[in-house]
Amino acid sequence: MLLLALESSCDETAAAVVKDGRHVLSNIISSQVDLHAVYGGVVPELASRRHLEVINPLVEDALNKAQIQPQDLQGVVVTRGPGLVGALLVGVSFAKAYAYALNIPVLGVHHIEGHIQAVQLEQKVEYPFLALAVSGGHTHLYRVDGIGRYQLLGRTVDDAAGEAFDKVAKMLGLGYPGGPVIDKLAATDDDGGIVFPRPMLKKDNFNFSFSGMKTAVLNYLHTLEVAPDEVTTRQIACAFQTAVVDVLTQKAMRAAKAENLNRIVVAGGVACNSGLRKKFLTLEKSSDIRVYFPSPIFCADNAAMLAVAGDYYLAHGSFSGLDLNAVSNWPL
Ligand code: KG4
Ligand code: ZN
Repeated sequence: MLLLALESSCDETAAAVVKDGRHVLSNIISSQVDLHAVYGGVVPELASRRHLEVINPLVEDALNKAQIQPQDLQGVVVTRGPGLVGALLVGVSFAKAYAYALNIPVLGVHHIEGHIQAVQLEQKVEYPFLALAVSGGHTHLYRVDGIGRYQLLGRTVDDAAGEAFDKVAKMLGLGYPGGPVIDKLAATDDDGGIVFPRPMLKKDNFNFSFSGMKTAVLNYLHTLEVAPDEVTTRQIACAFQTAVVDVLTQKAMRAAKAENLNRIVVAGGVACNSGLRKKFLTLEKSSDIRVYFPSPIFCADNAAMLAVAGDYYLAHGSFSGLDLNAVSNWPL
């Protein structure tokens, strides 16, 4: 099936053309980072307006890059939620109108299902597997038995890991989004002996908590008599990332063992983190668990990721009606 996929849940407008849920013919992402950076975070109203401005040319671009005509498409898949409702509505409304005009089916897909299944665009990962979905809004562990078959094993009880990266970066005056900047600073592997707590690590469940870690960084900053210089900032970033990575990797490995799973898929924007990738690769060597990561372009928000599950559902006759609506809060 030849599908157009659309994503507009937060601050990236994305369009992709994907064949048979696997072959990415085009995958275009228009980032709004510059628009929101001055505010230190995403401003929902500005995000919606920018999605509206760029979605038409973006889709045209995606079709041109894929060298296809609108009439060649057999379906449209779009992020239905979760996300910013005004932002989601742009993608959902566009998808419905486009599919209606072409007389092809439209389907709303869960953003996190998209992130988790993105790995299948590049390699075949057999089910069942454990999925660690780590993004700006999610830090969730699922047992995955197939497309549409997710069992929640644990989740953050407060902030998401990506959110914590962004907030700590803001405290350190590093700008938005914080994840990539902290990742870069932490690459030097010098934490200066600073140790931040690893919340919930000793708890006998698969939940996470990142709010306390963020407060620990703030408290540490308050102990300094002057604003941190370049070296101290780098050390704080490194110590913070190490603590986050420790918790994420250890809980995921533990959950996989408890569920008797020997495959872990790491998905979402935070899966780009080089410290997280490195630590999982080290742990993988001393266990019989294999860890899979999508390429960074398919970890961060993109539209191609929606086509894996989208193609499967449409091929099985499951599609949405023209009453499809955006859902800001939608558990997987
Ligand atoms: O999946 P995503 O693009 O959007 C959401 O669905 O939220 O994830 C965005 C989050 C942001 O919080 C960003 O700071 C974080 O992913 N992120 C990273 C890295 N790249 C993006 N966090 C840590 N290290 C990175 N390299
Ligand atoms: Zn996302």
